[in-house]
Amino acid sequence: MLTPADHFHGSDLETIEYAYGIKKENITSFSANVNPLGVSPKLRQTLAAHIDVITTYPDREYTALRRAIGTYAGCDPDHIIVGNGSTELISLMIQIRHPKKAMILGPTYSEYEREISLDGGISLYYPLKESNDFQMQADDLMNKLNEQIDLLILCNPNNPTSTSICRNDMRKILDCCKQNNIFVMVDETYVEFVPDHLEITSVPLTDYYNNIVILRGISKFFAAPGLRLGYAITGNLDLIKEVNKKKNPWTINSLAEAAGKLMFSDTEYISASKKLIFSERDNIVHELSLINGIKAYPPTANFILVRILKNGITSKDVFEYAIRRGLMIRDCSTFPFLGNQYFRFCFMSAVKNRELLMCIHELFDDANTKP
Ligand SMILES: Cc1ncc(COP(=O)(O)O)c(C=O)c1O
Repeated sequence: MLTPADHFHGSDLETIEYAYGIKKENITSFSANVNPLGVSPKLRQTLAAHIDVITTYPDREYTALRRAIGTYAGCDPDHIIVGNGSTELISLMIQIRHPKKAMILGPTYSEYEREISLDGGISLYYPLKESNDFQMQADDLMNKLNEQIDLLILCNPNNPTSTSICRNDMRKILDCCKQNNIFVMVDETYVEFVPDHLEITSVPLTDYYNNIVILRGISKFFAAPGLRLGYAITGNLDLIKEVNKKKNPWTINSLAEAAGKLMFSDTEYISASKKLIFSERDNIVHELSLINGIKAYPPTANFILVRILKNGITSKDVFEYAIRRGLMIRDCSTFPFLGNQYFRFCFMSAVKNRELLMCIHELFDDANTKP
């Protein structure tokens, strides 16, 4: 039997509904990191008009879809593999690279470690330091890399710290990895939310390095986690051949294929999304700086990590306080290196963000005035 004390993933609205007796329609998920604009009007119309695509198999090679992604991401369509969300690609890459010892920058998304252990490998964490606001120090990381490690995993921007690695540092890391025979997997699920994302993305590096694969998807920025469309970019043609040998056919359904061909060129939706997230991010950073008893780390993605400095309040208290108002944040106590002083939330509509900020204000202000 679930209790409110259990931990919840950002997509666990059904579990919350059951544990707290709040209808899922009345919950705003600040924990799933999904663009609050929802499905673009263009996509809604097009998908409805193309419902008949489900009566045929998708193109086995996904040629037109890969062309659309190539134009959007700035790479050769032959360097792209599409998958059933980036989750399928994380899993395939790990099965193919079959790492014995992987290094993961942490705290981060838990799927990497899970997949590595399912495949029989060991994960070592390189801990991002709180004293550096969880920003990676490239030279320090490179000192920890050696020939015993066969895979390095970097989430860029990183979930849950919302920090990014710039391309210059990535280039240094790739050189160091090349010398040590380490393959690098970069998860760019949140990259489009970064203000200067062309400075952050590693896509241009795939033309020069064959020890890198980049993973991305439409779940977060295009607000379509239910469609299950992800893609990998690599200049390593042997890896692409291996993946295509191993991968089941048609794992991207015809509706996702049709959606993908449209959404990457939906410039209106792309700029509206950026405008909303960029302005909300600035407002939220400012508002949080006015609340006593917390520290917010500078965010580059569409979510922010917050540390509770006030004694006597835990991340579970913040979760409980907010969920009773239908606002679901992420209690980060289960992330490695974070404890029950950390919580994360993503940026939703301006109105909902004000509600959540008010809620955090109330909780900490009441605590401030306690005798
Ligand atoms: C960093 C990161 N990568 C990948 C995923 C999964 O993405 P997808 O829906 O494309 O499988 C998530 C989902 O929360 C995530 O946070």
